[in-house]
Amino acid sequence: MRSNQIPAVFSQETIFNFGHELAGQEVNNKMNRSKIIILGSSRKNGQTRKAVDKLKSLSDFDVLDLNDYNISYYDYEHKNENDDYLNLIRNIISNYDILIFATPVYWYSMSGIMKVFFDRITDLLDNEKESGRKLRNKSMAVLSSSIGDHLGDNFWIPFIETAKYLGMNYIGNIHTIENKLDTDELKKFVDLIDKEITK
Ligand SMILES: Cc1cc2nc3c(=O)[nH]c(=O)nc-3n(C[C@H](O)[C@H](O)[C@H](O)COP(=O)(O)O)c2cc1C
Repeated sequence: MRSNQIPAVFSQETIFNFGHELAGQEVNNKMNRSKIIILGSSRKNGQTRKAVDKLKSLSDFDVLDLNDYNISYYDYEHKNENDDYLNLIRNIISNYDILIFATPVYWYSMSGIMKVFFDRITDLLDNEKESGRKLRNKSMAVLSSSIGDHLGDNFWIPFIETAKYLGMNYIGNIHTIENKLDTDELKKFVDLIDKEITK
């Protein structure tokens, strides 16, 4: 862990949805499908974070920041199996059905920290097949942040194709421009995700 203040798996800001079952709510009710924003920026309080905070204010999505975890590059020999990745992904898989990835655009692509997280999905195909299978039928959406409105469709391909490969449903994506957050567009994005929940 990068901070001693942060408990074993999730950061302090994460409101973790263990509560569903304990509170006696209907766990399998699709209306309750829980959603988490997975933020992967090279800074904790940057432009992508601002977009995530706005999105969170318009929704009931939980948030986790990958900066709070020690996740190293994919290793063919799995010498990093004791870093934070496996615990983190197991908990995400157990507790959330809709994963919203939030990344800045760095050199026309997702951020490095997000790419490392995606590369580590490979662990689920190697040693954690049961967890990997549980990703099937979950859903994915993506938020990006950059300085301009010139993001080509190719940017989304790694997300769309990864979702397809894993058997996940790709809900859609939104591009945000730094310091020009469009509340209406973000609301539409939340609505799109909420529609998925009621399917
Ligand atoms: C390493 C790096 C690469 C970047 N590459 C691009 C790019 O290819 N296209 C673009 O529009 N903006 C690019 N930017 C600008 C960021 O996408 C933009 O400032 C973003 O809102 C930053 O989010 P953050 O504060 O969460 O890092 C880049 C910024 C950095 C630091």
